[in-house]
Amino acid sequence: MNAIRLVTTAAAALSALCTAGAHAQDVAAGRQAYAQCAACHSIDGSPGVGPSLKGVVGREAGSAPGFRFSRAMKGAGYPWDARKLDAYIANPQNAVPGNVMPYAGLDDAKQRADLIAYLASLK
Ligand code: HEC
Repeated sequence: MNAIRLVTTAAAALSALCTAGAHAQDVAAGRQAYAQCAACHSIDGSPGVGPSLKGVVGREAGSAPGFRFSRAMKGAGYPWDARKLDAYIANPQNAVPGNVMPYAGLDDAKQRADLIAYLASLK
């Protein structure tokens, strides 16, 4: 009885660890993938070639302070969530026609998911 309870507890603890670990791995992988965005996008709130992506998840598209957005991006008309970000990073011109981000798109769905996990961690 005690042995069984011990094994069950150990298994539960292990699976909780694995879940937490997978998430941390996604964020770490996303941080690496962010290297291809970092030349234009800061993570500290300061605008550069592109708007800062600090706090981008949940923020209205085209509203980051201090950045002159294109009319297309200002008119997107929605807050960024995981689904919208995924579509935009996959194919910026398809998702927001006429926006001026000079980036062709990222085909790899796993890398996009990792990137979004990383963006969500930038509060
Ligand atoms: C060569 C510069 C450049 C690169 C590289 C780049 N971006 Fe951008 N990004 C921009 C510019 C410029 C805009 C503003 C577009 C507009 O106003 O139409 C933008 C806009 C955005 C927005 C909208 C932000 C907001 O506040 O509405 C997101 C999200 C974004 N980029 C994500 C990314 C990600 C993720 C990557 C890397 C995979 C990336 N960008 C790579 C220049 C870049």
